[in-house]
Amino acid sequence: MRSIKGKNSIYKIIRKLGSGGFAEVLLAMSKDKLVIIKLPKEDELARRLIKEEAITLEELSKPFPHDNIVAFIEWIPYLSALVEEYIPGYTLDKAFSSRRATQNDAIRIALGILSALEKIHSFGIVHGDIKPDNIILPKPLHPVLIDLGIARAIGGRSMAGTPGWSALEFMKGEVSPEADIYSIGVLLLFLISGIDPESSIGPQDIPKRISGHLRYVLEKALSSNPWERFGSAKEMAIALMGAKIPARSKPRIIVQGKIISLSDKLTFGRVKRQGGTGKADVSLQEIGSHRALPPGPPIGWAEIAKVGTEYWISDKGVLGGLWIYEGSWKKILDHPLKNGQLISFGIRRRGNYLLPYVPARIYLR
Ligand SMILES: Nc1ncnc2c1ncn2[C@@H]1O[C@H](COP(=O)(O)OP(=O)(O)O)[C@@H](O)[C@H]1O
Ligand SMILES: [Mg+2]
Repeated sequence: MRSIKGKNSIYKIIRKLGSGGFAEVLLAMSKDKLVIIKLPKEDELARRLIKEEAITLEELSKPFPHDNIVAFIEWIPYLSALVEEYIPGYTLDKAFSSRRATQNDAIRIALGILSALEKIHSFGIVHGDIKPDNIILPKPLHPVLIDLGIARAIGGRSMAGTPGWSALEFMKGEVSPEADIYSIGVLLLFLISGIDPESSIGPQDIPKRISGHLRYVLEKALSSNPWERFGSAKEMAIALMGAKIPARSKPRIIVQGKIISLSDKLTFGRVKRQGGTGKADVSLQEIGSHRALPPGPPIGWAEIAKVGTEYWISDKGVLGGLWIYEGSWKKILDHPLKNGQLISFGIRRRGNYLLPYVPARIYLR
């Protein structure tokens, strides 16, 4: 194939850059710029996966592309091909194959990817495959994240992962933002000390010479319990910059990356113009993706309240119901909350999967 016809352009194929499990990656020229075309291998699963990647990347490119995430260009239906911006430069595995980054440079690179993750997580998505060959450096210390091939909705089921780079719970199927936080911990160690693990690592693998706040950040990010890591990309970024992060003892709920302190009683609902009561303490629309909640008739709200020493959550008529994740999603009405518990306001079905509309995690200590 010499050229591929898209909606807005004819792409002249220059050469094949690589070939992964599901797709060939081609370098091509459109009118005036280089692009990448991901072309699925000849099977239905490959076509479906590339299409999912395209849908995710298109969504993430709105309202405009993020500086640290490869930009979507178009989806070509008749070939099931994804066209995206070409990022010049080496991937991190090549850029750092025989040298180490200084601690400051490693932190700068990690901060770029954390900024990308803030956006990705706020859309209710987990990248799931943060590792050096999926990050390109077009300019020194300016990383761009590519390959949303295994990205999944929070609370969905992961398909795969990379041993050593993916958090253990992600390898077992659980999808939560903290999986990406873990991989950033591994990435920092790779940049600073050259470690490229083949199986799961933890705080004990941090070299002795790393101390101070960087050690603290790494120990936390590499915890085996997801809820002992940072609750959000932003929190990890703040800690990496050396600032003191807020006291960790206060109970809180993190809804799509936003940290909300739990008071004795807190209500979650829709804003009035969306058909809600307009009286909720936390308006779910104002958090994360506006498309996260289904359009529909007025809904009630959910309430988290302190009962004795426990926090309970109650469904007061959330459209789509209130759900907790315990190996699988379960619908609940009134339920005590555990530290680290994943919940969702509403849920939808995609094929065999239940996908949360507005996922959140509870932190009680
Ligand atoms: N947008 C891009 N710009 C430049 N190189 C890219 C781009 N996308 C992919 N590549 C190159 O192709 C390789 C494979 O692409 P990737 O999207 O990671 O697919 P795979 O699922 O096969 O890992 C990358 O590691 C990178 O070297
Ligand atoms: Mg890749």
